Amino acid sequence: MRLETAVFEPQTDSPFEQFRIWLAEAEASEVEDDVNVMTLATADSSGRPSARIVLMKKYNENGIVFYTNTKSQKGLELAMNPFGALLFYWRSIRSQVRFDGPVVPVSTDEADEYYATRPRNSKIAAWASKQSLPLSNRGTLMQAFDYFDNKYSNALVPRPPYWSGYRLSPRRVEFWRDKQFRLHDRFVFARKAESFPWKLQRLFP
Ligand SMILES: Cc1cc2nc3c(=O)[nH]c(=O)nc-3n(C[C@H](O)[C@H](O)[C@H](O)COP(=O)(O)O)c2cc1C
Repeated sequence: MRLETAVFEPQTDSPFEQFRIWLAEAEASEVEDDVNVMTLATADSSGRPSARIVLMKKYNENGIVFYTNTKSQKGLELAMNPFGALLFYWRSIRSQVRFDGPVVPVSTDEADEYYATRPRNSKIAAWASKQSLPLSNRGTLMQAFDYFDNKYSNALVPRPPYWSGYRLSPRRVEFWRDKQFRLHDRFVFARKAESFPWKLQRLFP
């Protein structure tokens, strides 16, 4: 039996650059608009985990940014335990990328700048939704939407104080690519702190 011989080697010594390369590959082959979909895992103060999808809105050498309601379950968990994990899975290129590390709120300037780019109705929705709290019926949500729609009918919609972004600054970034017979390629970039150099290591699949 012949084994697949093409081996996936990291093309760079920066995980962000490697991520950029794979993201571009995924953009070329994945369903439109879906490449920035990622799973965010957080944990409460006793270490009990929870996970949900959020959208990556920015990435660079400082980390990966997403936006949410800071009073949501994830927001409360990040306040108690400011560490998270992010996971991308791109089916079309049979690859996953995992990031983990500390999570810090973005600055108010950065949050304002991103919020300003959102469509008006999404801004109104951010006011109307008490994300993750119980909602007795959908009518209540729609009434809240109408209320804020009217309230800001003649004004710019400000950013709610509880709506902002977080940046995960990775300490570990793992790239996984599917290979024949489950002999997958896995390699991990790890560093002790943001100022430390990355160390690269291949892992058993
Ligand atoms: C494709 C997709 C994209 C989503 N993007 C976001 C997002 O960027 N921010 C967000 O707060 N919730 C987003 N959500 C909703 C979350 O998955 C989740 O339901 C919500 O944030 C509440 O999570 P929590 O109760 O764990 O805090 C998205 C859901 C899906 C399916």
